[in-house]
Amino acid sequence: VQLRVGIVGGGQLARMLQQAAIGPGIGVEVLAAPGEVSAPDVVPTIAWGSPGPDTLRRLAERVDVVTFDHEGVDPDTVADLADEGFVLRPGPATLIYATDKLAQRRHLQARGLPVPRFGEVRDAAGLEAFAAEVGWPVAVKLPSGGYDGRGVWLARSTQDAAAPLSLGRALLVEEGLDLARELAVLVARRPAGDTVVYPVVETVQRDGICVEVQAPAVVPDDLAEAAEALGLAVADAVEAVGVLAVELFVTADGRLLVNEIAARPHNSGHLSIEACETSQFENHLRAVLDLPLGPTGLRRPAAVMANVLAADGSTDPHTALAEALALGPVHVHLYGKEPRPGRKIGHVTVLGGSATDASALAQRAAAVLGAARPAPRRPAGVEEVTR
Ligand SMILES: Nc1ncnc2c1ncn2[C@@H]1O[C@H](COP(=O)(O)OP(=O)(O)O)[C@@H](O)[C@H]1O
Ligand SMILES: [Mg+2]
Repeated sequence: VQLRVGIVGGGQLARMLQQAAIGPGIGVEVLAAPGEVSAPDVVPTIAWGSPGPDTLRRLAERVDVVTFDHEGVDPDTVADLADEGFVLRPGPATLIYATDKLAQRRHLQARGLPVPRFGEVRDAAGLEAFAAEVGWPVAVKLPSGGYDGRGVWLARSTQDAAAPLSLGRALLVEEGLDLARELAVLVARRPAGDTVVYPVVETVQRDGICVEVQAPAVVPDDLAEAAEALGLAVADAVEAVGVLAVELFVTADGRLLVNEIAARPHNSGHLSIEACETSQFENHLRAVLDLPLGPTGLRRPAAVMANVLAADGSTDPHTALAEALALGPVHVHLYGKEPRPGRKIGHVTVLGGSATDASALAQRAAAVLGAARPAPRRPAGVEEVTR
């Protein structure tokens, strides 16, 4: 009997989960929002709708386990369905920490795990009081709903935080850190707690959005070990099931801190598709189905992933596929998404002997795909000659 996984959300993570499900013959069903194309392009069974109690229950009835491609699900709804006996992984406790950055910070700090100094504010007076304590700049964040830097403001004054303050909601504020680098650790964890950890990667952000990931992170062994240990401790603390991504800060003064977690496959692990013995997507499926986890080691000395970000005025990236593939040994992943400016519409992974060489090639290919333009029209009066 085929094992079946239901995925809430039809974005690129669901698309790549489908890809990973084919090998072991796992059935996939997706609950997609109208207009989503990434997963609906490639998954045979799609239910359309928003993830409310009824749509989620109908999905849960048809599969062995329900899992998630995004954070837009109410943890209470998940808790209610779990009480009815349905299997949803990760569970509601993990989802609360993954969807609410304030709850996440508080929980990790209570567990004694290292996080930036933080507070909760609702207005300018609160922000000024916090800044008086920790100094400017202050990172101001929406506790939920943000992604790719949308929802994060690095404020040097109250003025800079006018936009989030005008919302009148609770905001997470934290010390603005002088970052030496950003790392990420991926952990896959089964329901009983069996765990595997991926090699620590370095993530490179531009304007708050991840543009590149390098594996392994080129850091001293003791820092890599500390990062892996911290990733495992966080996975235990939030009772993760499935893949948990832990974004880490290394500060200029040498502190290793948890930035944020994602309780699902993550951009920092896309290179695992080609670079690791078992991809994050396959291990996520195995973990939520409570199957033995696969080894996570790198197949080659180095791997680099560059995100394909749509450039202003770009069109269908497929028109640039031949040009990108001609550059060298690149692995291209396009998500089928509309190329709105700045949007992540794919990624490119390059394996190699060194991160430096792989990075240059991955960046070139990603830029070519992100800047795709329609082929120039033949000038009037010039006829095509068929030989
Ligand atoms: N406290 C901080 N100090 C300095 N930079 C920060 C801080 N918090 C976040 N950033 C920068 O902003 C990026 C996005 O922040 P993050 O909280 O991870 O939001 P998102 O949910 O959009 O990924 C981080 O990867 C980092 O580069
Ligand atoms: Mg982040």
